[in-house]
This record gives sequence, structure tokens and C-alpha cells, in this order.
Amino acid sequence: MRSATTPLDLLVPGPEHLPADPAEPRLTSLHAVPAGTPHVRANMVATVDGAAWGADHRSGSINDDADWRVFRVLRAAADVVLIGAGTARHEGYTALDRPAGLPAASDRPLELALVSRSGRVPQLLADGDRPPLMITGATGARTAARLLPADRVLEVPSAHDPDDVDVRAGLAAIAARGLARVLCEGGPTLLAALLRDGLVDELCVTTSPRVVGPGPSRIVAAPASGPGAAPAAGVPTTPPVPARLGHLLHAPGTGTLLARWLLR
Ligand SMILES: NC(=O)c1ccc[n+]([C@@H]2O[C@H](COP(=O)([O-])OP(=O)(O)OC[C@H]3O[C@@H](n4cnc5c(N)ncnc54)[C@H](OP(=O)(O)O)[C@@H]3O)[C@@H](O)[C@H]2O)c1
Repeated sequence: MRSATTPLDLLVPGPEHLPADPAEPRLTSLHAVPAGTPHVRANMVATVDGAAWGADHRSGSINDDADWRVFRVLRAAADVVLIGAGTARHEGYTALDRPAGLPAASDRPLELALVSRSGRVPQLLADGDRPPLMITGATGARTAARLLPADRVLEVPSAHDPDDVDVRAGLAAIAARGLARVLCEGGPTLLAALLRDGLVDELCVTTSPRVVGPGPSRIVAAPASGPGAAPAAGVPTTPPVPARLGHLLHAPGTGTLLARWLLR
């Protein structure tokens, strides 16, 4: 179980010491997003050597209490958490609650939206009493509709392949439901699609103070084949997106760095 009591120093702008505070007023103001305006923030953790997960194939084994402090504040500031179906399966997502004790961005429950080509709803979510939203293509929508109420399935086929997902249209569909402040919690395949389509306003990256060695993916990864596949040569096919540093936090106890990068 993570604790949100680790102290933080704000290095840029700063320096400023941010002692643990259950209501997190300073972290909340540092991460505030205007209501009603579509905004996509991604929050990811990577090790010093760029790994997106640890030995258990989960990000939980590479994050820590400093990361947890910001993670909670970002959830409190969101209308909806957006994840790829792979993350839902690997990390065992269930319906989300707003973090206790923090000022919530909205009176509405925190929504969970999945992006999936297959439309396969993870069992834990299918069995729950608060079904997620499912953003999917034509065949995926039929699959998802077997387990989810019809109004939770958002069918947004891509123009090139009706079974592929138009993620931009998916974001528009959830914004039309009043879910404008999107927090994407990964994973790497979904983040690659969002970045490819220029849909990420802000990328929060925690650098976890450990080196895990080769094996895991980076926090941005495309599938090796199929829709949205990574280029065979292993070099980027899109121009680099400039990133401007919004702020940088440092946990003096561990060395964890938490950066907020602005992409648009
Ligand atoms: N370091 C971090 O911050 C972080 C954050 C989250 C997750 N993770 C880790 O990442 C790993 C999972 O990686 P992943 O890349 O498989 O995660 P992912 O992006 O969450 O899942 C990939 C799956 O999500 C669906 N999907 C994602 N993007 C899509 C798109 N544009 N169109 C249609 N479907 C899309 C597809 O589901 P279907 O197969 O159902 O079609 C795809 O197979 C886990 O080990 C997890 O712990 C790390």
C-alpha cells in the first residue's frame, strides 16, 4: 500500500519545499486544469534506463510513495481516466473512486474509459457494478456490447479500417458527455497512438530511481505488427514534438523526479 506522506521539493520553478499535506493544496494548484476545456494529460512512470515496468510486468513495481502523491492529485483533477485495455488487464483495474481527502474536480464519479480494438472487457470490470466506457471500432463494439450496457460502448471506427479505433473521435465522444479533463494512465501502446495524433497536451513523467536492465518497453511503444505498427527500422517516423518543462519535483528521500512536460 502506497503512502502519500513523503516530502517533496519543487525545484523548477523553485526551490520550494512541499511537506506532506493530506489536502495537497500546492500540488493541486500546480496541476490545475480549467473546467470544461478539453485537455489530455498523460501520467507515466519510467526507470532511469527507460523501462515502463518492472519484473512483475506492472508499473507498480517501479513506482513509489512520491509518485503516489502526485498520482492521487492527478486523479482528483480529472473527469475521466483513459487507459488501453492492456493496462486494464495487466494492472487489474476496477471502477475508480476519487482520492479521499483531496478537492475533487467535479461532483460526478471519476469515470474510467478503455480503448480497445478487440472490445474485450476485462472480467474484473465486466463483473463490477460501475461499468467502464469502451472506446472501440466496429467489431469491438459488438464484442463489448455483450458485457456492457449499450450507452457505455462508444463506437468510433477509423476511416481506414472500421475495426481500428479513431482515438481522436473517442476523445470527442467522451468530451460530449462532459468528460473534458482526461487523465491517460497508459499504457505505452495507447500513449503512442495519442502522441502520433497530436492529442496529448501534457505529459507527466516520473523518473523512478532504479535501473532494471533490458526487457521492458519504453513508456511509448507501438505494436510490432498490425494497425499502428512501429517502423521496422526502429527510427521515429514522425517529427519530434517539442516539450516545455512546466515544473519539476524532487523527492529528497529517494531521488525520484516528477516532471510535468507541456506538449501544446
Ligand atoms: N510505466 C507506466 O507508467 C505504465 C502505465 C500503464 C501501463 N504500464 C504497463 O504497460 C504494460 C501494458 O502495455 P501495453 O502497451 O499493452 O498497454 P496498453 O496501451 O494499455 O494496452 C494495449 C492494448 O490496448 C488497446 N489499445 C491501445 N491503444 C489502442 C489504439 N490506439 N487502438 C485500439 N486499441 C488500442 C488494445 O487492446 P485490445 O487488445 O483489447 O484490442 C491493445 O492491445 C503493462 O505491463 C503495464 O503495467 C506502464
